[in-house]
Amino acid sequence: MKKTKLKELLNSLTLEEKIGQLIQLSGEFYNASDISLGPQRKLGITQRMVDLSGSVLNVTGAKEIHRLQQKHLAKKGHAIPLLFMSDIVYGYKTVYPIPLGMGATWNPALVKKAYENAAEEAYAGGQQVAFAPMVDLVHDARWGRVLESTGEDPYLNSCFANAMVSGFQSGLEDGKGIVSCVKHFAAYGAVEGGREYNSADMSISNLFQNYLPSYKAAIQAGAKMVMTSLTTLNGVPATADKWLLNNILRKSWGFDGVVISDYASIYELTQHGFALNDQDAAYKALDAGVDIDMKSPCYANGLKPLLEDGRLSESKIDEATWRVLSLKNDLGLFEDPFRGSSEELENQDLLTSSKRKLARELGRESMVLLKNDNKVLPLKAHSNRKIALIGPYADEQSMLGLWAIHGDTKNTVTFKAGISEYVDTDNLVVEKGTDIIRDKDFFIHSGRDEDRVECVISDAATEKLNHDRAIAAAADADVIIFAGGEHTLQSGEAGSRTKLRLPDNQQKLLNELATLGKPIISVIISGRPLVLTDIIADSDAVIEAWFPGIEGGHALADIVFGTYNPSGRLSMSMPYVESQAPIYYNHLSTGRPQKTSQHVGRFVSRYTDAPTGPLFSFGYGLSYGSVIYHKPKIDKTSIKEGESVTLSVAVENPSKIDRTETVQLYFHDEAASVVQPVKRLINFKREIVPAEKTINVVFEVKPKMLGFYNQLGEYIVEPGKFELMVGQNSNETQAVKFYLED
Ligand code: BGC
Repeated sequence: MKKTKLKELLNSLTLEEKIGQLIQLSGEFYNASDISLGPQRKLGITQRMVDLSGSVLNVTGAKEIHRLQQKHLAKKGHAIPLLFMSDIVYGYKTVYPIPLGMGATWNPALVKKAYENAAEEAYAGGQQVAFAPMVDLVHDARWGRVLESTGEDPYLNSCFANAMVSGFQSGLEDGKGIVSCVKHFAAYGAVEGGREYNSADMSISNLFQNYLPSYKAAIQAGAKMVMTSLTTLNGVPATADKWLLNNILRKSWGFDGVVISDYASIYELTQHGFALNDQDAAYKALDAGVDIDMKSPCYANGLKPLLEDGRLSESKIDEATWRVLSLKNDLGLFEDPFRGSSEELENQDLLTSSKRKLARELGRESMVLLKNDNKVLPLKAHSNRKIALIGPYADEQSMLGLWAIHGDTKNTVTFKAGISEYVDTDNLVVEKGTDIIRDKDFFIHSGRDEDRVECVISDAATEKLNHDRAIAAAADADVIIFAGGEHTLQSGEAGSRTKLRLPDNQQKLLNELATLGKPIISVIISGRPLVLTDIIADSDAVIEAWFPGIEGGHALADIVFGTYNPSGRLSMSMPYVESQAPIYYNHLSTGRPQKTSQHVGRFVSRYTDAPTGPLFSFGYGLSYGSVIYHKPKIDKTSIKEGESVTLSVAVENPSKIDRTETVQLYFHDEAASVVQPVKRLINFKREIVPAEKTINVVFEVKPKMLGFYNQLGEYIVEPGKFELMVGQNSNETQAVKFYLED
């Protein structure tokens, strides 16, 4: 529709109709037959507002979406098509590894393809907006939603934010693809103590330097929607933060798309103690720039009285409605309210073999080999060695993680299935050994009905049988693969934990397996960096597999049997012990750094009862074979504004197997007017280093890459002495120094 026509449409709408466009409800609202008992009553809104609502949350499938859209358009009045939005966080039907695993690929180009695929599937299924990517930077593994983040580094996160948004939206120009709604603006990942929905408090320079870049990258990549955060930032709820939404997002970054609240976050402004009641909350959110109210009664009931009282002007409502209508128009909904979706297209585009192939590739690139003593890995395929695959994830399909809400675990390739393709039947024994978790209270607190808990907790006799069979199988084998990890419900939204270890029953089983004296390869499923200290001690090799997606079994087997040389590198530090949280590589320099302080003994910045650093640092990961990083060289030791310095490093692979190296470039500003991190990633190159060959990796560094944000949120580059550090992870680097002249 032409803009002039759209304007005419806006002008012809009644106030109620405009408000309707600003309301988002979930599927059950459109199916409830008895409004006196239905969800409307629970939420406290009228059937009329449901009829006028503008968008729908988390309804899936072309058939259902067609049905709801047709029903909606058949209603009297302006019949503006509904927009269907949902959480397509790391895949639609083809589920990829969780974003924390995607972060470990250091391969944004491949991740972009996965988001293109997700968009193609979601488009076929009638979805129009994905509530993703979640680009919140994370430092604290206690927070369950680290699962949805690509990690702790602003530069790496920005690369992925760009890839994910461009992937989702790449089809838009041809009338395909889906809109990306980046979330959760802003700094949700900094919740204090890693406790869900808690507050975030930080300096302005920290906010600008670390937390905002990934949202900005998403906006620069063209994200057409932004979702607010459920939390407060420096005392103001993000859902009503005028400074964030207006000054930063719209004015400074030029965002002109739609802002949506997070689930009920407008209603929660009252709970925060920021608004007096629903009406006040509606005023504060709309005034700050939130266009759509997700799943709360505030806009539905509050906006009209606010206008009648003269507190709100109709032009504010018009602005928000215009943005929603424009988005619908940009998507072509007025011409085709189904946007070409159909069941036939679903049959053609969902879960295709090429999409599964990509899930396998991404799965294996996401897995991180953390330990490989005595080259226990890779195993030889179809050898005579007997393998015992033991553990609750040995043959488990629930490996998709909490936010794969459109995926079906039935489509998952289990570890057993993947490994079976490399091992003769007689040489593979698979035993569960124990349940994933045996804590009834945990399931009840997670919202599971008490009478269903037995489904996931075996009775004592079965548990004993599983245990005994596992120990006997392991005792009879030449090598043990232990597959354990977190339960799906232990991470993800509202999955904050203080104990980041394997459930006790699993750790006990692993300890017992370790007494058998056989080589043990541990494979860990998790939605966060767990504390792996005990697992490392019990195992010869450890693979962090995250929640690996539907091709998890194949991906793991490719690594175990060496058809893929592991290349994953951590994008989030792995703590040595929980109480190190928050822990991240790019922390500020202290006045008494443990390694270089002139103070000795007690009076340095460290823990007295644990190492100061993580168990595995950012960027860490092993591959098969070996590698040598030669001394880096720079072409100049001093540069001026407008010039650049070129760093080159020879990377040698003396082994007989090709490997992929992620060559990481960090820098440190030796003295600045705001204290700078000990190291900051500014670039990386993911290169194949062929067997017995040396490659030269070259980086160009320009002065503008060396700046920082001051306490006013301004980006400045200060002349002075800089260190460039290059290496295979943030902890093993070699440095060269140069000056940036005045
Ligand atoms: C989450 C969002 C999500 C929304 C809609 C909220 O609870 O915080 O990330 O997009 O629900 O499902």
